Amino acid sequence: MAEVLLGVSGGIAAYKAIDVLRLLQKDGHRVRVVMTRSAQRFVGPATFAALSGRDVGLSLFGDETAPDYRHLEYAREAEVMLIAPATANTIARLAHGMGDDLLSSVALAYPGPVMVAPAMNTRMWEHPATRANLATLEARGATIVPPGHGVLADGDVGAGRLASPADIVAAVAAHRPGGDLFGRRVVITAGGTREPLDAVRYLGNRSSGRMGWALAHDARNRGATVTVLAANVDLPRDEGVTYHDAATAEELGRVARAAWNDADVMIMCAAVADYRPRAVADGKIDKSGAPELTIALERTEDILARLGELPRGGRVLVGFAAEAGEDGLRRARDKRLRKNADLIVHNDISRAGTGFGSEENAVTLISSRGETESGLRSKRECARLILDEVRGLLGETAAE
Ligand SMILES: Cc1cc2nc3c(=O)[nH]c(=O)nc-3n(C[C@H](O)[C@H](O)[C@H](O)COP(=O)(O)O)c2cc1C
Repeated sequence: MAEVLLGVSGGIAAYKAIDVLRLLQKDGHRVRVVMTRSAQRFVGPATFAALSGRDVGLSLFGDETAPDYRHLEYAREAEVMLIAPATANTIARLAHGMGDDLLSSVALAYPGPVMVAPAMNTRMWEHPATRANLATLEARGATIVPPGHGVLADGDVGAGRLASPADIVAAVAAHRPGGDLFGRRVVITAGGTREPLDAVRYLGNRSSGRMGWALAHDARNRGATVTVLAANVDLPRDEGVTYHDAATAEELGRVARAAWNDADVMIMCAAVADYRPRAVADGKIDKSGAPELTIALERTEDILARLGELPRGGRVLVGFAAEAGEDGLRRARDKRLRKNADLIVHNDISRAGTGFGSEENAVTLISSRGETESGLRSKRECARLILDEVRGLLGETAAE
């Protein structure tokens, strides 16, 4: 979570800065918007003021009867300075160190490297002046979020279209080495395994993968290197996260064990089948036979318990316990001790509106540091709480 200064300059893509602002806020960032004069002709400042909940910086000179150093204040408060969209003109002014308006003056006073997401017509993008100006900014450490190819607002086809707001926000996350999980390697299993019965059927469960996805998103935003071991998850994948697919309990166990050595944190969030059919029928099981069908099942490997037996070496091991009913919390506490996990995330799946498939969850975190109840929250917020606890546990293992 950072204090982001979002500079909006005057291109047709200025309206997309609204999505950038919303996504930054969704990731927990606080955002201050500064607009150039041209940007104000494309989008009204009132939209940014209302959505950011803060004054929008429009001009270098405010009320001229009072001292006003807002360009210095804004530069001081910003932890990340992002200009999206950045016009060819604004890029040129930044490259040449000009300070003839509020945005360029903030950029001059801002001590860190700026992030720039250019958007312009292809010919402007390819112009040698723009190429040279971008090279100058890059040489000074600026991060350029490259534009995409496609049909531009003026009907031309080519490079110059503003990168997607999601890609811009992902670049902000990757650009910020100050995150509290920076340098940590976090592996997360997500989704639900499917155990084949025959060539077309399987035994599965209703896990959507949303909780694991939220964990991956937040861990990435906090600077971690994130790998997701995905069991049958059909959700959009985040930029900057590595995904491996593993469909069955056996495959998931294999990739989880392989990932152990290189992990600082293992979060076993996937719903893994406890049993699988002892034999997988060839073709499709025929229904023309007896009125009943009995399928012999055998235990699958308990991946969490197996990892819990390995030498821990400073790693943090997190398990999930989806339990129903009053005794669930006791079973979750017991699970942590039995499986030698550092943290168990208990969710009561009998509670309405939480757990599998839903957007919200209510979890209890059970660790050596005590117990925390989240109350009903979005899965994103639950992910943040879980990773706060992981952060605390990593601190303890580092201190040992
Ligand atoms: C309809 C229209 C669309 C424009 N779109 C862009 C654009 O996408 N990118 C760009 O670099 N300039 C674009 N311009 C030109 C800029 O608005 C112009 O260079 C302006 O001086 C930029 O000022 P600023 O960089 O201070 O915001 C556009 C101009 C008009 C009239």
